[in-house]
Amino acid sequence: MRVGLLTGGGDVPGLNAAIRAVVKRGEGEHGHTIVGFRHGWRGLADGDVMPLTRSHIRNVLPTGGTLLGTARYHPHADDGGLDAVRATLEEERIEALICIGGDGTLHAASKVAESGVRIVAVPKTIDNDVWGTDRSIGFDTAVNIATEAVDRIHTTAESHNRVMIVEVMGRHAGWIATTAGIAGGAELVLAPEEPFDIDRVVRFLQHRHRAHASFSIIVVAEGAVPLEGSSMQYETQLGPFGEIVAGAISERLGAEIADRTGFDTRVTILGHVQRGGTPTPADRILGSRLGVAAIDAVSAGESGVMTALRGDDVVLVPLTDIAGKVKQVPAEMLEVARALA
Ligand code: F6P
Repeated sequence: MRVGLLTGGGDVPGLNAAIRAVVKRGEGEHGHTIVGFRHGWRGLADGDVMPLTRSHIRNVLPTGGTLLGTARYHPHADDGGLDAVRATLEEERIEALICIGGDGTLHAASKVAESGVRIVAVPKTIDNDVWGTDRSIGFDTAVNIATEAVDRIHTTAESHNRVMIVEVMGRHAGWIATTAGIAGGAELVLAPEEPFDIDRVVRFLQHRHRAHASFSIIVVAEGAVPLEGSSMQYETQLGPFGEIVAGAISERLGAEIADRTGFDTRVTILGHVQRGGTPTPADRILGSRLGVAAIDAVSAGESGVMTALRGDDVVLVPLTDIAGKVKQVPAEMLEVARALA
């Protein structure tokens, strides 16, 4: 069988482990030919093909990024996009497609599957907000990077008696903020799940600095928002693909805190450093497991499903169950971050 493979949306560490797994298992166990499409759905619509054999995946396991390239393009949202995708699949005689992506790519996958194409999806996003899976590829590496950053910020915060705001990624969910905040011992975690009250933030900082500390670290998810009706008016700023303008909320928060408390305040925006470099062992293992499960599912005739981690098991979840849902941080984990401040 000829099986197509693409990676869409933002890159994450661990994608190459998943690509390698699909190719090795696909060629070796099932005797398939794997055909790569460069730059996600864009390459599939444009017929931008790349052969994927064992020689293409040699030594890629510890590498970051995606050897296929990626793009933010959604064929169902583009005039003629779905027709172009079907035309390429026909021309390349592709019988099934594996797409590795986050919410945007998975939404596109369900639309393409609806149009009769056999599809199995694999979840990846450092945001870890894909519904139906406990973990998405890339999250573990991002948490490691963010935790190291919080650890490093700690020493300079203490030396200078400053309030340090560290902004991490997470548009719709605060998984990186909460986990790196707990692991790095942050004083406050601000996540999209719980809009924050600036007055309470200020009171907390004033009390802490008066009572027992001279510095504070606040980890903020880029999608955090102030409580409606509170004394901080703010509108989330979005880019052309719905991505949040990096730094907007934390710069504003920093200015509010400095203004209201008089504390020396600095903002660090981690940005794409969270998505770069070598994947952790956990992401290499997850990419490998979900990749093998995807090619096995395709070979078993499955379609319209996503491979997912549930507890210790890899399972298949219907794409229709995932559509339009965001997996948010549980209240218990947010409470732990609060309790240990
Ligand atoms: O979806 C993953 C993500 O890393 C978000 O957290 C972030 O808002 C966005 O991608 C950044 O997108 P881009 O790479 O297009 O700037």
